[in-house]
Order: sequence, then structure tokens, then C-alpha cells
Amino acid sequence: MCGIICYCGKKQAIPILINGLKRLEYRGYDSAGFAVVENGAIGKNGRNNKNRRNIVVKAKGRVDHLEKKKIGLDVDATFGIAHTRWATHGKPSQVNAHPQTDCANKISVVHNGIIENYLELKEELMAKGHVFKSETDTEVIAHLVEEYFEDDLEIAVLKAVERLSGTFGIAVIHADIDHQVIIVKRGSPMVVGIGDKEYLAASDSNALTPYTKKMIYLSDDEIAVLNSDEYHIKNLRNETLEKKIEILETRDYKVDKRGFEHYMLKEIFEQPVSIENAMRGRIIESEGVSKLGGLEPVLDRLKNTRQLIIVSCGTSYYAGLLGRYIFEHLTELNIEVELASEFRYRRLKLDEDVAVLALSQSGETADTLAAIKEAKRKGALVLGIVNAVGTAITQITDAGVYNHAGPEIGVASTKIYTSQLVIQTLMALLIGRYQGVSFIEGSEIINALIRLPDQVREILKNADQIKEIAHKYSRYKNFLYIGRLFNYPTAMEGALKLKEISYIHAEGYAAGEMKHGPISLIDRNFPTVAIVPDDLTLDKMISNMQEIKARNGKILSVTNANVPQVEKISNDIIVVPRTIPILQPILNIIPLQLFAYYIAKEKGRDIDKPRNLAKSVTVE
Ligand code: G6P
Repeated sequence: MCGIICYCGKKQAIPILINGLKRLEYRGYDSAGFAVVENGAIGKNGRNNKNRRNIVVKAKGRVDHLEKKKIGLDVDATFGIAHTRWATHGKPSQVNAHPQTDCANKISVVHNGIIENYLELKEELMAKGHVFKSETDTEVIAHLVEEYFEDDLEIAVLKAVERLSGTFGIAVIHADIDHQVIIVKRGSPMVVGIGDKEYLAASDSNALTPYTKKMIYLSDDEIAVLNSDEYHIKNLRNETLEKKIEILETRDYKVDKRGFEHYMLKEIFEQPVSIENAMRGRIIESEGVSKLGGLEPVLDRLKNTRQLIIVSCGTSYYAGLLGRYIFEHLTELNIEVELASEFRYRRLKLDEDVAVLALSQSGETADTLAAIKEAKRKGALVLGIVNAVGTAITQITDAGVYNHAGPEIGVASTKIYTSQLVIQTLMALLIGRYQGVSFIEGSEIINALIRLPDQVREILKNADQIKEIAHKYSRYKNFLYIGRLFNYPTAMEGALKLKEISYIHAEGYAAGEMKHGPISLIDRNFPTVAIVPDDLTLDKMISNMQEIKARNGKILSVTNANVPQVEKISNDIIVVPRTIPILQPILNIIPLQLFAYYIAKEKGRDIDKPRNLAKSVTVE
């Protein structure tokens, strides 16, 4: 979703802004733009700041469309702001792209989030004579700042922000104020990067890492003022704050496709390593237990927790659904899983005996953030499993575990899903070993975990077979995915992968529920993907598959054994290695990720950036 990058220093700003936008591209967006103030004089009387040009360049579509415009790219400018936009108010278009400007085209604003009272502000400003150009909520900020500006941009921004309700991360520049970028955060992440005689800011530290690892994470209602030779941070009462500079300890992951055609394919193939990284240093084989340093400060509280509520969105939600079975299997906790966006409407009794666990790749999904803020307010212990280091969720949680999976760029999550499953297993094992789980059981789980990366490698060796199967199925317009128990979430995640990137309708269902509705859809043109491992659900799964067969439905099965009955009913079959039932979904999802990928590829879809989707969803 929307991304912000800002620069203030001595280097040419435009290449840095464009490079930053490219590093934000993975988030998903539909237009992009930047604003800089041209250095030097343009009037006859030599240098005259008051006449400096505010250059705003915007384009619908990708950042390379912005570059292809070639307008303004060679401007001599050493400070500026830039943005990738994912439309909320007003369609994707050049005029709605950010930066938005005031009437005099001197003030430029980029904004993530939503201004909830923009309509009333717009009416008020129009009545005062302000002329609006776009349909965005963002434009009101530029006009409000214009309204309050006398000669101090900082004061004008403070006054404007006082009038705004909603969530935002904002950056503002003024053509008459030399080398000053003002950043404000409320509810939408903003981080300041401290470079060598230069300052940067972004909504995502990923955009800053080529320039600095020194970060200051702004909290809500804080304002950062970046100049060319100093910066300061204040609260909205105009009081100066001393904020800690944190060193972003991210491993230097390469953000390129490493020869793969798409990031998604690369990330699917990275899973043996991301699974290994999720476990690295976190297993004590000799004691049949896991060790999660990030949870140590809260371990005593966690041992006495009676209920665990997992909150998340999208693929992370399906990982949570599977987490329910994993925690239930290994611990004595009562487990609930809730969509983060629904959590706030529940009337749940949360107290200090309850832990709320947020799962999030990006660490900044707005609904997940809102859910854990609510949980904190009510006194629950708040934990996180997050991939993106230092992000908003990691700052709010009481404790947590990082995935250490490296950046995931493809919008459709793959390696983080399997990594989230591994880490939930480690967490459940950690708690479970203080409860009923024996050393032997713990050791069995650990042995199975250790074998996983090689088993994933084995599946990936068969990618060509899955590609052929995908080719056979690519003409269908609807799919049903079914599974039971541990593989019910696998069915939902498999279906989600297909719809996200191929735009084919697919539903994931608990196999037992099929006869209560979806079976009416089944005919020879409505195939089913059945996840049918050889476990206690096998017989019932076979019965469900028979019911589909009896209605001429085609069946593609994913299984972990050569079961003659499954072979007989299935039109196609993918066999994956066998592991213990709680970990089997980690292996079962891999062919389904590849299946979705190859169908989307055959259909010529924009796999890494599917239409309308965003990697980081920063609006509720
Ligand atoms: C978006 C992404 C999904 C992701 C979901 C939750 O919808 O496209 O891939 O699963 O957000 O994101 P999170 O970063 O919180 O895991």
C-alpha cells in the first residue's frame, strides 16, 4: 500500500527518491510521484529562495512510468518527498497521485492513511476560497497548511494536524523554506533515518537501508523536522523529545530475483532456507524443547496464561487458524483465532491471564495494529510473530519472535506463511514442555522440524510435474479446495493463493462442510483440490472425495502416501514427503503455492503485483 520516502541533505534528491520508491514498490500501489524544490536562483537578482520552483512530477502506474516521463528528473534539488499511492479516495490517476499541493503550488504533501474528516475540512477551505484539484483526502492537508502558514512551516503543520482526525503518516515541504522536510505520524508508521550529514524518512525502513541503518521510529502524535544539518523531534504540544536512535539489525538480504522470473517463485524456492532460519538457534535437541529469546522476558507470565487469542489478516490469518490446532495439540491453552478486523467488535474478556498473539509479515497491517492496541488497553499480554524488523507491531508488543525470513516482495505471501507455522510450533512446544508434553514427544517434534527443509527441497525438485498439472487445470474458472483438521487451513490458504494471483474464483472449505452447500456447485467444470494426508482424517476425506466423484467432479489430490483408494478417485495426484501430522501442512502448501503460480503465469498475470492488492495494508 502507500509508501513515503523523503530526503534532506547535500546529495541530489531525485535519484534517492526514485530509488526509495522502487524499494517501496513491493507494497502494491497504482501511482507514484515526487516533489522537490529546485536549488539556486531563478530570478534576475541572483539567489532568491522566495522564487524557488516547487517541482512536482506524478504518474499513474509504475515508478518506471514516472522515470519515463523524463520531466524534472534532472532538476538540481537536494531535498524532497515522494510517494507510491494505493487509491482509497478517488481513482488511480495522475491528478490523484501524491504529492498534493496547495493553491499557490508551494506546499507539497504526501500522506499514508485516511483523513476521516476531510469532507468537512474541504468544504470549510473551499468556502475560504481554496481551489481543489483532486478527489483525495490528502489535498486538504496541503490547503490547511497553506491556511495556517505565515513564515514557519513547523507551526503551520502543527496547527493543521490539530484539525485532522484519522490515521496518517505525512511529509510536507514548502518551496520558500530551504531544506526542511516535516514528518508527522499518527497511526501510520514513519521512521527517520539518520545519515552522514543527511536525513531521510520513510514509512518503511526498507526504503532507507541503502543510506543508513540508524533509525528513529516515531510514535503516534510526534513530528520530526529534518533540515540539512540537524533534525529535531517534538510532540504535538511543541515540546522537544529525546528519541533513541536504533540500529536496524537486519541481515543484508539481497532484494533481487536471483534469476527467478518472479519474486514469488524465488520466495517459494527460498522456503528450505526460511524454514531453517526460523529455527536457527531456537532448538535445544538435548532437552526436546525450543528456546525463544524474544519471549524470555515474559515466559513466567506466558506459562500461567489460560487463553491465547491469535489475531491476524490474510495469509497470516490462515497461519493463525493452523496455529490454533498446533497450540491446542501441544499446550493446555484455550485458543481462539480471530480476524484482526473483527477482533475490535468482539466483547471479549481480556485480562492479564490472556495473551494475544499478532502474526504479521509486514508488522504494520492497520487492522492487526488496531487489534493489539485494543488488547493492550484491556490488559492482555501482547505478543507478535513479525518478519519486518523494527516495525510498528514490534514496538507495541510486550515480546515477540522475528521470522528472519528476509524481505518478502511478492504480494502473495509464501515463505512467511510456512515460517509462521514453524515459529508457532516452536512457541507451542516451549509452552507445552511446561505442561503435558514429554521429552519424547518434544524430541519427535524437533526431529520432524529438522527434517523439514530437506523435505521441502524434495517437493521443489518436482516443480515441473506441478507445472504440467497446472497447465491441465488452467482453463477452469472455479475451484473448490477441501481439507480437514490441520489441513482445513491449508485448503483455505491454497484457495487464497490461486485467487490472489490468477484471479480465478476458488473457495477453501472444511471437507465436512462440503455437503452443506458447495457440493451443489460441483460438476465436470468445477474441479476440487483435496488435501488428503494419510492421518486420522483419511477415511472421511475419501468419503468426501467419493461424493465429488459421484457428481463428475475432477479431483487433484495432494497426499503424503501411496493410498490406492486416493489414487483411484483422483484425476491427478501430487505426493509430498511425510512428516508428523501437525507439520504436514507446511509440506502440503508448497505444491499448492506452485500450482497457483504456474496457473497465474499461464494466464499472463502480474504475479508479484496482482491487481488491486497491496503487500502492506495500512488502512483499516
Ligand atoms: C495483505 C497481503 C497478504 C498478507 C496480508 C496480511 O493482504 O497481500 O499477503 O497476508 O496483507 O499482512 P501481514 O503483513 O500482516 O502478514
